[in-house]
Amino acid sequence: MSAACADVLPAELLERARGFVAENLGLWFPRERTAELERGFGGFARERGEAGAAAAVRAMLAGPPSRPALAALAGHLTIGETYFFREPAALDALAAEVLPGLIARRRTSGRVLRLWSAACCTGEEAYSLAILLRRLLPDIGDWSVTILATDVNPGFLRRAVEATYRAWSFRALPEGVGGAWFIERGHGERTVRDDVRCMVSFGELNLAEDAYPALVNDTNAMDVILCRNVLMYFAPERAACVISRLRRCLVPGGWLLVGAAETSVADFAGFRRVGFEGATIFLRDDGEETAVAAGCSRGGDVPVGEPRWPEPEGRGPSAPATGWGDGGVRGLDLDRDHDRGHDHVPARVDDRENAEKPVSPASRVRELANAGRLEEALEECGRALERSRLDGELYYLRAMILLERGVAAEAGEALRRTLYANPDFAPAHVALGHLALRLGRRDEARRHFRNGLALLEHRAADEVLPEADGMTAGRMAELVRFAAGRDDPPAACRGPLR
Ligand SMILES: C[S@@+](CC[C@H](N)C(=O)[O-])C[C@H]1O[C@@H](n2cnc3c(N)ncnc32)[C@H](O)[C@@H]1O
Repeated sequence: MSAACADVLPAELLERARGFVAENLGLWFPRERTAELERGFGGFARERGEAGAAAAVRAMLAGPPSRPALAALAGHLTIGETYFFREPAALDALAAEVLPGLIARRRTSGRVLRLWSAACCTGEEAYSLAILLRRLLPDIGDWSVTILATDVNPGFLRRAVEATYRAWSFRALPEGVGGAWFIERGHGERTVRDDVRCMVSFGELNLAEDAYPALVNDTNAMDVILCRNVLMYFAPERAACVISRLRRCLVPGGWLLVGAAETSVADFAGFRRVGFEGATIFLRDDGEETAVAAGCSRGGDVPVGEPRWPEPEGRGPSAPATGWGDGGVRGLDLDRDHDRGHDHVPARVDDRENAEKPVSPASRVRELANAGRLEEALEECGRALERSRLDGELYYLRAMILLERGVAAEAGEALRRTLYANPDFAPAHVALGHLALRLGRRDEARRHFRNGLALLEHRAADEVLPEADGMTAGRMAELVRFAAGRDDPPAACRGPLR
């Protein structure tokens, strides 16, 4: 019997497999894609040494699926098609309109930019963003730039981190981008230059999960999110759910880009459609606040100007690669204390209406940070710490916000204070490990990770950590082991940490 025949699933099991994949990965396999679903389970079964697709489905249905198993299954069901500067009309609109507007406003208010390539596949999209920003920001060394890139498939992420690509990935390089951002490897292969590479932080994230926005995995307070060519594989209600979550990850006036074929996958509630030449981009709509926050007075079709594609000018100082590598862990959900159905972007934290229950100082800090109001969050945190000088959680939040701003030294100090207040606060050990790793201090990193792991392994794997809002000890330990096994960041990434 051929592998394909062995993969055919009995009708009842097939429906359960369809439901399982939609529920756990968001992916929807309608009837016409049944063969793909069966092949996917078949390949997964062979990888795991299961007897066949049916056995693999039964094993997955037997209990809550483990993360590694889900990630492996995702590898067999997802499509890894991507390339540099894909869908150029949207990137032209970013380069010519969206980013210059954002940069002009931020130049006078903090010089912080935060972008996220959600479903980044093998990384070409995220590196395209990094190249774009290097071109647009001649003084990039004075900025704190975050480019987070996530995917559900760890195999893709490993290739993204390696950053070496075959000619096929470069098939749509726009004129003017040229090869200067890459190092030739021979046989048509090129590696992304270190100063571009180190701008991107990669991490595993399943868009179907309840893991974002969250400060610790750096998915909050984004200015621009690209979530392209993945929602079309989702069931419409799951796509709507992802879009609503991504909205909460954006600052007011933030932008969401989906693939050209995806602008109708849902109704994009809470967004304003902005038409550019050949592209529609979604602007987070906060009513009257929107135009001011985005510096954008229009909601209709206004063509973008000529794209500008200057060549790179040698190696500039690199931007800090914040992101996963900093917090390194997932699950501290900034919205968790609040009604998840609504956005909380209060004009003033103190005069919120409808406040029915007392809000803890830490919740207020989270709320502000989640809305991208990092300065106010820091101030609120400072005030709360004056009242309660030994609150480890507040110090930890302060550290996370400082890391987001690229202020590593102060963040380190706040983490040490966290541990002074609460020596068993595992996430602080872990964060210190990430910080040391970023600074190239591998031995120190190992020590912190060891301490964090020892504390985590002391707990039951499925115990929810009160200090990490919803993450289990087992999951955090898994992430620590992953981080501890990673290489140092390239030297070019270490410079701009303050
Ligand atoms: C076609 S690629 C798109 C890559 C890139 N965004 C682009 O437009 O070129 C789709 C990606 O979505 C990822 N993906 C599928 N389901 C996902 C999920 N539930 N969470 C996160 N990523 C997912 C796949 O692993 C794959 O890398």
